[in-house]
Amino acid sequence: EGVFTYDPGFMATSSCQSAITYIDGAKGVLLHRGYPIDQLAKHSNYVELCYLLLNGERPSKEEYQTFERTIRNHTMVHEQLANFYKGFRRDAHPMSILCGVVGGLAAFYHDHLDITREEDRQISAIRLIAKMPTLAAMCYKYNIGQPFNYPRNDMSYAENFLYMMFSNPCEEYQINPVFAKAMDRIFMLHADHEQNASTSTVRLAGSTGANPFACISAGIAALWGPAHGGANEAVLNMLDEIGDDSEENIQRFIDKAKDKDDPFRLMGFGHRVYRNFDPRAKVMKETCDEVLGQLGLADDPQLRIAKRLEEIALEDEYFVKRKLYPNVDFYSGIILKAIGIPTNMFTVIFAMSRTIGWISHWHEMISGDYKIGRPRQLYIGHPQRDYPTE
Ligand code: CMC
Repeated sequence: EGVFTYDPGFMATSSCQSAITYIDGAKGVLLHRGYPIDQLAKHSNYVELCYLLLNGERPSKEEYQTFERTIRNHTMVHEQLANFYKGFRRDAHPMSILCGVVGGLAAFYHDHLDITREEDRQISAIRLIAKMPTLAAMCYKYNIGQPFNYPRNDMSYAENFLYMMFSNPCEEYQINPVFAKAMDRIFMLHADHEQNASTSTVRLAGSTGANPFACISAGIAALWGPAHGGANEAVLNMLDEIGDDSEENIQRFIDKAKDKDDPFRLMGFGHRVYRNFDPRAKVMKETCDEVLGQLGLADDPQLRIAKRLEEIALEDEYFVKRKLYPNVDFYSGIILKAIGIPTNMFTVIFAMSRTIGWISHWHEMISGDYKIGRPRQLYIGHPQRDYPTE
């Protein structure tokens, strides 16, 4: 038996080698395959980013067209899946439905599950990227009791998602281009973030040889917690709870967040890796200002509260000393709400967007040499003792 390092929370452990995403937490830098996130957000789009993350290089024009067309060809889901949804309670949290349904995809798409074959891995990746918006929108439609919409392959990735969410057979839904652009931006900003809890979960599950749909379902489960992807939902709930933007009221919540006897934390603040501004939060805040400005909602009360909360926290010694800054989730919820997306769908949208990151990491791992992930422990239980025989 060797000597094992005790590293709870993996504060100092690199679990793998990866060429996908680079983060410099001290400087607030995030690169995907070498490209800075702010440049990607400005000049690229989600589908191109998917190609880049999965394949390592930006696509040529022809490669992009083929990739996009292939995704469009896979947006429909097996008709039988509609019955799977119907087994859930209507008021089930959409994340619980998504966990189950994505895990269940292996039961529908088992024709290409030989993970040792590159072609099969690519097909599963394409299926996931293409079907996640359909599955996510179905969670919402099921919740509100409306019929499911089939995807529209004449629309862009983001437009199609908005269409499936908000269209119904009784009235035409006009896609607002501002919303579609903002949606695409939100997808991009959540696409990958190296070895976070959910990605590590996907890799760990994948290291056993489990199929990619099961692995992504494990990632969705890990993402759901409020310390991870559930934070975007928690931010909006927090802004609701804060309620008004008076100075004393906001200060009261800042004081609660600082109080070690109070479990309340400032949601959307702090990050394990960033000890500086989260570069995604900067782009998200700009997008938030753009979208709400274009909608004439620049003076939205929740946006006012969020901005004042940020200002006060960034000047407060507690947050300064601990290097706590707003993270990607601080402003995303305000944009999603302005688009009309209900709070309980926020983490589902994070999961949809992160699917490309998860599957790229899974693909990178399975394509190279890897071992089953098997951490050790420091045993602190009872030493050996005899079972009493009388
Ligand atoms: N509000 C108040 N205090 C905080 C916060 C916060 N949001 N975040 C960290 N702290 C304090 C914490 O109490 C601790 O103080 P002390 O040193 O006195 O004990 C110190 O800062 C370090 O915190 P930690 O919990 O040890 O740091 P961590 O790296 O383990 O946790 C985190 C990172 C993101 C879980 C945490 O900052 C947090 O809970 N934030 C709120 C939830 C959130 O916004 N999560 C989304 C993360 S970004 C999206 C994603 O990638 O999932």
